[in-house]
Amino acid sequence: MVKEKSVVIVTGGTRGIGRSCVERLHKDGFNVLFTHSNSENDAQELQNTLNTTKTKRIKGLHCNVTDLDAASRIFCEAEKLGEVVGLVNNAGITGKLGPMTQLTDADLSNVVEVNLTSTIRLCREAAIRWSNNSNGIRRSIVNISSVAARTGSPGEYVAYAATKAAVETLSIGLAKELASVGVLVNAVSPGTIDTTIHARAGEPGRAMRVASRIPLGRPGQPEEIANAVAWMLSDESSYVTASVMNVAGGL
Ligand SMILES: NC(=O)c1ccc[n+]([C@@H]2O[C@H](COP(=O)([O-])OP(=O)(O)OC[C@H]3O[C@@H](n4cnc5c(N)ncnc54)[C@H](OP(=O)(O)O)[C@@H]3O)[C@@H](O)[C@H]2O)c1
Repeated sequence: MVKEKSVVIVTGGTRGIGRSCVERLHKDGFNVLFTHSNSENDAQELQNTLNTTKTKRIKGLHCNVTDLDAASRIFCEAEKLGEVVGLVNNAGITGKLGPMTQLTDADLSNVVEVNLTSTIRLCREAAIRWSNNSNGIRRSIVNISSVAARTGSPGEYVAYAATKAAVETLSIGLAKELASVGVLVNAVSPGTIDTTIHARAGEPGRAMRVASRIPLGRPGQPEEIANAVAWMLSDESSYVTASVMNVAGGL
């Protein structure tokens, strides 16, 4: 059971997988601080939908995860909602679909900054704040990886795939570093999920196009990833750390 005023941070909570995580964690009884970099209306709508009682348990924060002070700002805002017990590093971008020869420097630096550097900075902030676990609370970091870490995504976004492989290595190493202070660190690796990320990469219909390659024969829904994230943040997964959970329809 979730202790009252337990808070989870979800980066990139206004659309797709992040939004589903916010909705599911709210349903499970957590307070949630979610971020976005450029979707104020969606953030407001999500808060209005979920904050139905006088107690405001869900808060959106306009904050680009690549800002140098983002990690401390995010944690400071989250702590206003209660005891922070979870961090879901979800915000991610692919860059434009295409072969390596077409990768621009701007896309390369954005992909590395959003997917990897910011995730490391947020993990570092959590490690600093959570290392002195005098009250014995179990805390959890869930990093969102991708099936691309295993396939390499040739012809589509190899650089993105490389950042996700790094996110998995980060999760395994940090899990071992923080185990003794009661912090669990895992990654959830989605397959192809029906979200706006594909349109942003330049092909809105990509999820349906690749469906025939997926053993289960369809793209996943964001809620199916949120289910795995919620489990990782629940008491049910108390002996799970340094693991990567594939939620990929058999890919
Ligand atoms: N969809 C898939 O097929 C798939 C497969 C494997 C892994 N994943 C991973 O799952 C995660 C979520 O993907 P999704 O498909 O749900 O993406 P999405 O639909 O494009 O949503 C991305 C979310 O992240 C936010 N975001 C993006 N850049 C940000 C930044 N710099 N700072 C703060 N927030 C930012 C977006 O809001 P703003 O635009 O307002 O910032 C949005 O809320 C990503 O890490 C992605 O790599 C997705």
